[in-house]
Amino acid sequence: MALQSLSRAARIILVGAPGVGKGTQTERLMKQFPELSSISSGDLLRKNVRERTPLGIQAESKMKAGALVPDSMILRLIVNELSTRGWIRDSTLRPYAVYSSSIAAEDHTVDSVSIPSAIKTAKYTYSDHPEASFILDGFPRTANQAVQLNEIVPINMVVSINTPSEIIIDRICNRWVHAPSGRVYNTTFNAPKVEGMDDITGDPLTRRADDDPEVWKQRLQSFKENNEPLLEHYDKAGILWTVNGNSSDEITPQIFKEFGKRFGVPVPEVVGGL
Ligand code: AP5
Ligand code: MG
Repeated sequence: MALQSLSRAARIILVGAPGVGKGTQTERLMKQFPELSSISSGDLLRKNVRERTPLGIQAESKMKAGALVPDSMILRLIVNELSTRGWIRDSTLRPYAVYSSSIAAEDHTVDSVSIPSAIKTAKYTYSDHPEASFILDGFPRTANQAVQLNEIVPINMVVSINTPSEIIIDRICNRWVHAPSGRVYNTTFNAPKVEGMDDITGDPLTRRADDDPEVWKQRLQSFKENNEPLLEHYDKAGILWTVNGNSSDEITPQIFKEFGKRFGVPVPEVVGGL
């Protein structure tokens, strides 16, 4: 399929059970729509764990147990990453006005979530240029996180991916990852060209610490507890779109079609052939 350009900034999030294929669909979307970039909350956390940062050390036990890390921690991490990539700017530091959203200084804390004070008082701006497009893989995953993100930069499409859990658990047992880049492989579905090696760098692939069936069940449980309020939040905002399927062959073309319809530059129809 020919690569497609974007007509405006896409700020999309992928939501779904652990192992549903959020990382896999993100990689495919970025190949098809080259203006897209992505942030995976799980990859960011794993990078902090590998580098033994204070945040990584705090997050590690939660991740190993299949529990979510605190909202304030993940929010700080994501806002920092969005700023580093230049997709949002704190206009109290530097002017950059295209659109803006602000977080009032008064307490917007929801359900005792503590928002880091630097984030709470900042006023963020963002661009609507296609190059400021991004996919968030794995964030937000609680309604609180969604409310906080909306104060910083509004998301304009939420893709909820649905696959039965019996199918997902099989995949998790066969998943291998290239940790530095987040590239994902599967020995039965999406095998690397050379067994055990990353296609791009040739580095050895590894298993994720939380890809153990018992931990996966905990991750699924936590997903089930948090997902309904999250989807309700985005459904009310009118930006939720759901896709069902058992395999990527069913899911990817549906996502490409819907995403292309909403954000792609229309491809002129050739009438009557050449
Ligand atoms: P995170 O890394 O986000 O893990 P997850 O949500 O559990 O999802 P996965 O990355 O396991 O799965 P995926 O949907 O990306 O699937 P993939 O494409 O790899 O989070 C890890 C932890 O960090 C959390 O448990 C939590 O502790 C913490 N965390 C992260 N974000 C947080 C937040 N916002 N708030 C609080 N805590 C947070 O696919 C899986 C496998 O299936 C692969 O092998 C793939 O090749 C294969 N596959 C994919 N699609 C298909 C298909 N269609 N058919 C066949 N095989 C397929
Ligand atoms: Mg993932």
